[in-house]
Amino acid sequence: MTNLDKLKIKIFADGAELDGILELYKNRYIAGFTTNPTLMNKSGIKDYEGFARKLLEHIPDRPFSFEVFSDEFDEMERQALKIASWGKNVYVKIPVTNTRRESSVNLVKKLADAGVQLNVTALMTLEQVSDISAALGNNVPSYISVFAGRIADTGRDPMPLMKRAVEILSPHNKQELIWASPRELLNIFHAEEIGCHIITVTHDILKKLSIVGKDLDEYSLDTVKMFRDDAVKAGFSL
Ligand code: G3P
Repeated sequence: MTNLDKLKIKIFADGAELDGILELYKNRYIAGFTTNPTLMNKSGIKDYEGFARKLLEHIPDRPFSFEVFSDEFDEMERQALKIASWGKNVYVKIPVTNTRRESSVNLVKKLADAGVQLNVTALMTLEQVSDISAALGNNVPSYISVFAGRIADTGRDPMPLMKRAVEILSPHNKQELIWASPRELLNIFHAEEIGCHIITVTHDILKKLSIVGKDLDEYSLDTVKMFRDDAVKAGFSL
């Protein structure tokens, strides 16, 4: 199936470039947005709150996830409440552990019970999915981001794990599974196939959305033309 209109999965855009994000906001296939401190650092963002608030001024009506960055749970809680106050469409990303491997499960439960919309991030095991799903409960809409691409980077097929993760979340109708860190456009269709609710896709992969379902004879011809054009541009001779 290569028709974007028939997809049940929601596509979120993952990035930290203001212009790119605002451009993607015009794209009807983009149902929400995520970012993280690594992407923001790569984009040279220095003023975290200023950047986030500017985005939220332009995008008040689609889910937008921003991440806490403290390594201490008390401070993470303070940051989470502050981030949550920036808009009704905000989801607060909480890493599944801190850097000392201490689980965020208690903080997740506390914030979810208090009505904070969360996106628990950087999960890679089913044990983490079970623990976080139980902590989130069904009080408030929430996301669980499993880094399927990073799992694939280790030589493991993420599909069975992601499929099981969908089942683990299924008793909680306010929880949605995010297929995070996709490695190629085809992962949108992999995630769709296993019933994953959301996939968050980087801007470079999203550029390929326009060729979904493209005729392969045409695509082959475009490729041949590309080689020819570049050879001419380079002025090659033999
Ligand atoms: O949403 C997760 C993503 O930003 C991390 O991706 O490519 O660093 O594994 P990656």
